[in-house]
Amino acid sequence: MNEIKLASLVNEMTLDEKIAQLTQFATPFFKGASDGGQITGPMADMGVTDEMIRNTGSVLGASGAKEVKNIQRTHMEENRLNIPLLVMSDIVHGYKTIFPVPLAIGCSWDLGLAEKSAEIAAKEASVSGVHVTFAPMVDLVRDPRWGRVMESTGEDPHLNSEFARAFVRGFQGNDLTNEVDRVAACVKHFAAYGAPEGGRDYNTVDVSERELRENYLPAYQAALDEGCEMVMTAFNTVFGIPATGNKMLMRSILRKEMGFDGVLISDWGAVKEMIPHGIAEDEKEAALKALTAGVDIEMMTATYVKYLKALVEEGSLEESLIDEAVLRILTLKEKLGLFENPFRGADEELEKEIVMSAAHREAAKELAAKSAVLLKNEGILPLKKDQKVALIGPFAESGDILGPWSWLGSKEDAVTLKEGILQKIDPSQLIVSKGSDIEAITEEQIQEAIGAAKDADVIVLALGEDSDMSGEAGCRADIKLLPAQLELIQRIKKLGKPTAAVLFNGRPLDLHGVYDQTDAVLEAWYPGTEGGAAVADLLYGDSNPSGRLTMSFPYSAGQIPVYYNHFNTGRPKGAPDAQERYVSQYLDIPNCPLFPFGFGLSYTEFTYSSMKLSNKTITRDESLEISVTVTNSGEVSGDEVVQLYVRDVSGEVVRPLKELKDFVKISLAPGETKEVTFSLTEEQLRYYHSDLTLSSDPGTFIAYVGGHSQEVMEKSFTLVE
Ligand code: BGC
Repeated sequence: MNEIKLASLVNEMTLDEKIAQLTQFATPFFKGASDGGQITGPMADMGVTDEMIRNTGSVLGASGAKEVKNIQRTHMEENRLNIPLLVMSDIVHGYKTIFPVPLAIGCSWDLGLAEKSAEIAAKEASVSGVHVTFAPMVDLVRDPRWGRVMESTGEDPHLNSEFARAFVRGFQGNDLTNEVDRVAACVKHFAAYGAPEGGRDYNTVDVSERELRENYLPAYQAALDEGCEMVMTAFNTVFGIPATGNKMLMRSILRKEMGFDGVLISDWGAVKEMIPHGIAEDEKEAALKALTAGVDIEMMTATYVKYLKALVEEGSLEESLIDEAVLRILTLKEKLGLFENPFRGADEELEKEIVMSAAHREAAKELAAKSAVLLKNEGILPLKKDQKVALIGPFAESGDILGPWSWLGSKEDAVTLKEGILQKIDPSQLIVSKGSDIEAITEEQIQEAIGAAKDADVIVLALGEDSDMSGEAGCRADIKLLPAQLELIQRIKKLGKPTAAVLFNGRPLDLHGVYDQTDAVLEAWYPGTEGGAAVADLLYGDSNPSGRLTMSFPYSAGQIPVYYNHFNTGRPKGAPDAQERYVSQYLDIPNCPLFPFGFGLSYTEFTYSSMKLSNKTITRDESLEISVTVTNSGEVSGDEVVQLYVRDVSGEVVRPLKELKDFVKISLAPGETKEVTFSLTEEQLRYYHSDLTLSSDPGTFIAYVGGHSQEVMEKSFTLVE
């Protein structure tokens, strides 16, 4: 169907039919679903009629080829104009083959593998009937108390933008009409959902427009530049108005300035939430505000289907706004080829073959190994295969390593750490004991663990957070490991044996009580289906850790927000041990995070030397080449992430102390040396001025190159007119 035909289809639709296209309900509302048509509980009180469901435009959370086909078939039969449903689901970091959580994927700094993970997720999802995924989530994050940091790739706008592009490419491929094994992507949550006050989910966000443009918008823009088909609104306020009813944000910034002409969907229930937010008296006003702001689809509340018609009839709302929204939705259906084939990629046979295939699991394992970050190693890792190991802790045999957004993944399919280790060593070399639960510990558990550790040469503690302790609504004020596990560490430490901690969790933690009590710390995050196998490879040196943090680990929660690209202030603290009073500092803790952005150890050493600039100046037309020599000065092969940062020493508005401008991940054999050259252009030196224009200023800059944000070589240069 071309544009004209789609427009004439809109003309044929009644106002009720059009409005129902703008509504999205979950699977149980649909007759074709296995448990469908029987709405109970709060859903029953929504005031939704059969007629509304019959005309609904999209379904949330349906999956499985058979189920989706049934839903679609029944819907098409019941729908007067045979308009197919769009099937949307959260396929965040894998469908059934679960990859590491996005924060971990960020730590791989591997855009190719990130793209591949999204491509595999798309293949599994599309064959199972899904058309659109609610991903990528590209919200910039600076507060690890917020449970959803695990869904983001971290605290840097440049890195987040690169990952946003990679994920969109992976999900969507090049041509959604013909590549039925890809799905449309929906970037979220527009905008600045990652900045809730106090790190509490759904809480107020108050960022200046300059800050929004400089740090938060770039990653959404990158996703759109890559052709992302949909955008989801955020729950929070932006400039004092909830994003979902924020006309300036959606119509002026997103649509006009950022050039987005695809489908904008509200987050779950966010239209109606304008009432408790306090900008709508009732559902009718909420519906009016959301549609006027440009929200095409209302997710999981029914204010559109209940009130838009009356609003049009009484003259408060132009019907043309509804028509535009419907046209955008039909255009996406057309792009996905649904008018020709409403079942699209759904295929029961292929589903059996593709979902959780050996190749997909292998890719998940590779990414899990590249995402883990070695934070400390006092010479005890890698383990030797002839050492007797005591594996102790609540995550020793736990399959809860998939992360909170892996709703289709099964814990039973996950390779636990115990299973991973048993792929490496003889069972007689391994003793396993739980030691404690995640939140509780008994003396009996401790004694059993001590008994298990008695004959061991080395102890591996498998610790972390239950997956419900992060993710949506999974916020914590104290971001240490829970006291039960800290006690377990204390008691084990008394044995005086070499001890490594492996952490399974969804946020940067305050690692006091862990890193200072053990000899090695490996941050495995939630590594996904093949997590145990990937971690065992790392523990035994069959893979060399190459993950680097993309979000700072605070020294304590009292420092939050703590991030590398901060301002200097007028009274910066001098040397860490300087005795000063009236400077920007804490009296009780350092200013620096415990582990900074970009940090991560390896089983080898990388030495940086000979930093060179091609010129002392950079101009608007000529780039500056910045090179550095990197040598693997250790004994084993390894991957290093070479990072380029820049500081604009004096700007019209204050510039951060460092900004990541580029990076490259290189592999080096022992003794091997490579010269890495970055090409920096004037465009990369631009920033938003106080009048919100984007430009650069002539003057002095400093380029930094190194293996993490706090260990760098530097040289200055000048931007000249
Ligand atoms: C989340 C979104 C998600 C949506 C649909 C909401 O609660 O904030 O990220 O896509 O639910 O499941």
